[in-house]
Amino acid sequence: MKILVTGGLGFIGSHTVVELQNKGFDVIAIDNLSNSSIGVLDGIERITGKKPLFENVDLRDKSAVQIFFSKYPDISGVIHFAASKAVGESVENPLLYYENNINSLVYLLQELQKKPEVSFIFSSSCTVYGQAESMPITENAPIQVAMSPYGNTKQIGEEIITDIAKVTNINSILLRYFNPIGAHPSAEIGELPIGVPQNLVPFITQTAIGLREKLSVFGSDYPTSDGTAIRDYIHVVDLAKAHVIALQRLLNKQNITKVEIFNLGTGTGSSVLEVITAFEKVSQKKLNYQIVGRREGDVIEAYANTDKANNVLGWKAELSLEDALSSAWKWEQKIRI
Ligand code: WQD
Repeated sequence: MKILVTGGLGFIGSHTVVELQNKGFDVIAIDNLSNSSIGVLDGIERITGKKPLFENVDLRDKSAVQIFFSKYPDISGVIHFAASKAVGESVENPLLYYENNINSLVYLLQELQKKPEVSFIFSSSCTVYGQAESMPITENAPIQVAMSPYGNTKQIGEEIITDIAKVTNINSILLRYFNPIGAHPSAEIGELPIGVPQNLVPFITQTAIGLREKLSVFGSDYPTSDGTAIRDYIHVVDLAKAHVIALQRLLNKQNITKVEIFNLGTGTGSSVLEVITAFEKVSQKKLNYQIVGRREGDVIEAYANTDKANNVLGWKAELSLEDALSSAWKWEQKIRI
């Protein structure tokens, strides 16, 4: 039973390949290496002892997608990560995001619909909720008008998958991630942001290692306990394990409907200052930061109601914020040697 992981050399994709191999799945990873490196394959092999099959495929190239599926007709499940994911960049270059995130999904689904039956896991995001009315956020929270083209591609992706479910044999689970952070405890794989990191935790670790002069904290006048914005930071290994459990749910035909949705978070919100304090504790380093103005498009707070993932999916985050920050710091130190 072969499982395709698109974006399989990316941050969450590579960690998911490791967990799939740990469960004995035969994995083929595809990636166009636009936001990842081929060396990640060696990192995966150093962890699991097995290098996954790999093909350099750009899912925006319809004929390349067709050729891939004719070469690998025995794919039973797909976990689809491949997409552009920088919120700010999507505002500056919307068409890059619509072409990459939507066309790729359409070409992929056009091949999958030819199969008698296939299990499909879609990488979605809590971004679809915008600023939710109440916390913690359940899967029934209303979808708000997207605050960025990136967020809109996730909403459109969910709608496309819902529409095709009615007329194909594709069974899908949409996983809405909160904030993935951290790295594999082995420090063999982790996050490899290109250029200046947009996300909080890689910016923190790059500041601590001396790559960045100081962290800017975007806003301290939010209506929260300490004035800084609140997020649900989930360890990438916990997140990866959830993907395997979701895939097994579909492969074992345990799904109740053809499209199921799960929030993946810890259920706990942490403010930016709380993350900084936790990082200083695990790294034993004082972090250089300054408070600046709010960042355009940021929500005040977002953290997950995890009841459905816990009770229906049978998954629960096990690692703490400190575990995640400690693994991120270990990874940063490893790659800067
Ligand atoms: C977290 C908090 C910032 C950087 C984004 C995407 C989301 C998902 C995760 C893909 C916020 C603050 C950040 C910095 C800061 N990506 N911050 N200084 O924006 O919650 O979510 O990444 O799926 O879709 O929207 O994550 O890490 O950018 O920010 O103060 O240098 O840290 O204001 O409050 P975000 P983030």
